[in-house]
Amino acid sequence: MSLFLGIDSGTQSVKAVVYDAESRKVVADGRAPHELIPGLPSGHMEQEPSAWVTAMDAAILEAVSKVDRSAIKGIGVSGQQHGFVPLDEKGDVIRPAKLWCDTSTTEECALITEALGGEGAVIDTIGNRALPGFTVPKILWMKRSEPEGFDRLRQILLPHDYLNYYLTGEYFMEFGDASGTALMDVRSRTWSQEMIDVIDPLIADCLPKLSPSGEPCGTLRPEVAEKYGLSNRTLVSAGGGDNMMGAIGTGNVVSGVATASFGTSGTIYAYNDAPIVDPRGEIAAFCDSTGGYLPLMCTMNVTTVSEQFRTLFDLDHDDLSAAIERAPLGAGGLMLLPYLEGERTPSIPSGSGALIGMNAKTLNPDFLVRAAIEGVTMGMNFGLLRLRELGVSTSEVRLTGGGSRNAAWRRIIADVFGMSVVCMKEDEGAALGGALQAAWCVSRQSDPTTSIASIVDGATSLDESTRLEPDPESLSKYEALQSFHSRFSKSMEPLFEGQAPFKD
Ligand code: XUL
Repeated sequence: MSLFLGIDSGTQSVKAVVYDAESRKVVADGRAPHELIPGLPSGHMEQEPSAWVTAMDAAILEAVSKVDRSAIKGIGVSGQQHGFVPLDEKGDVIRPAKLWCDTSTTEECALITEALGGEGAVIDTIGNRALPGFTVPKILWMKRSEPEGFDRLRQILLPHDYLNYYLTGEYFMEFGDASGTALMDVRSRTWSQEMIDVIDPLIADCLPKLSPSGEPCGTLRPEVAEKYGLSNRTLVSAGGGDNMMGAIGTGNVVSGVATASFGTSGTIYAYNDAPIVDPRGEIAAFCDSTGGYLPLMCTMNVTTVSEQFRTLFDLDHDDLSAAIERAPLGAGGLMLLPYLEGERTPSIPSGSGALIGMNAKTLNPDFLVRAAIEGVTMGMNFGLLRLRELGVSTSEVRLTGGGSRNAAWRRIIADVFGMSVVCMKEDEGAALGGALQAAWCVSRQSDPTTSIASIVDGATSLDESTRLEPDPESLSKYEALQSFHSRFSKSMEPLFEGQAPFKD
């Protein structure tokens, strides 16, 4: 029997799954929460890397307690993208990690963009824009705001790299997650000297060597192996960002497949053999974690918005569905631009949400809830439309994340996207992706020609009972609404540029 452990360290918790390569099924799991640091100024989103480790330990111990530990051959770690983990010369964390959803670095983004010669020049240099979500402005923020800490900086890691470092003692970075730093030129897969020079030439020595994602990171440190009751020969694969690993766990490792994740963040992505660079920078030009590319659109406001509306009206999940279904398509003209915490796409990091279309009829809980769910979904569809404009075509969208499990919301997704949508049987896509990448890595040790597709095949099944086709009449109504939603959203970019009128 060969078992593989997949870990997904997200914004709110760590999930662990044990995957059995013979039955091609997840046979055990574990989960433990971790918290954001409370009480920080608006826009600052940070976590202690030690909290990830504590939660990972708990999730792994729970999962492995349910299986024969001696059969575990490999571990693959997925982590929230873009977080900045600064380490000193002893490998100790200097300050908490600023996260993907931290929007406190708009000034640094403007400085970086100006220094490189404008947005077009940044895209020419690295393939991406310098946006607050990405890692690079966080490094400049530390240099400007905490110079003493910055002087001690010796290693720069991303969240999943830090967990790999804890597991193996190795400083290691693979192409997929590294492409989200905005320090790497995604086309050449090398660190960008121009970008490094804009931040500080000294950081070149703090960046690990870039490695292909099929390479192993290392083996378990003896003390960690002992803690988990695993062999210290257990291989730890390269791992990757949660979207890269979600791509593996949803079978999105060949062209023609798109995944939409309705979770704390909303993402839409599709595997491609060649880099896809968006001249407008709305789609991020990421690498995947199997050797290919993963053009991706990310929004920051998905289940945080649905949860906020659910709690505002004191609804449970069934009540939420009922409210959605009671209100008409389009919520009688009420439209939410759902950018409660600012947004990455459209680029309004210091923006906020807006409700349009309020009148005596629409101002009621059912209409507001439906407008919220439609608004979030149209925000995601903005990315799907842009992917299509860039030549990425798919016939169906695979759904993951809490939002997609709600059938009433899923109906809206099918009608707004205008495509067949379907959930996965195994919903922990990123954790499963970690386990599958580990299986691939172990197999490559004896047969370097093993393809990721052969590992993923049969392991990532669709839950056909959830499939929904778009209704043509609803689709055409949503197309009209989408055009307004996209135009209102884009019009916020210049309005909020350099200003945060609605933030405390
Ligand atoms: C993608 C992104 C988010 C995080 C969430 O670019 O920032 O999806 O990876 O963990």
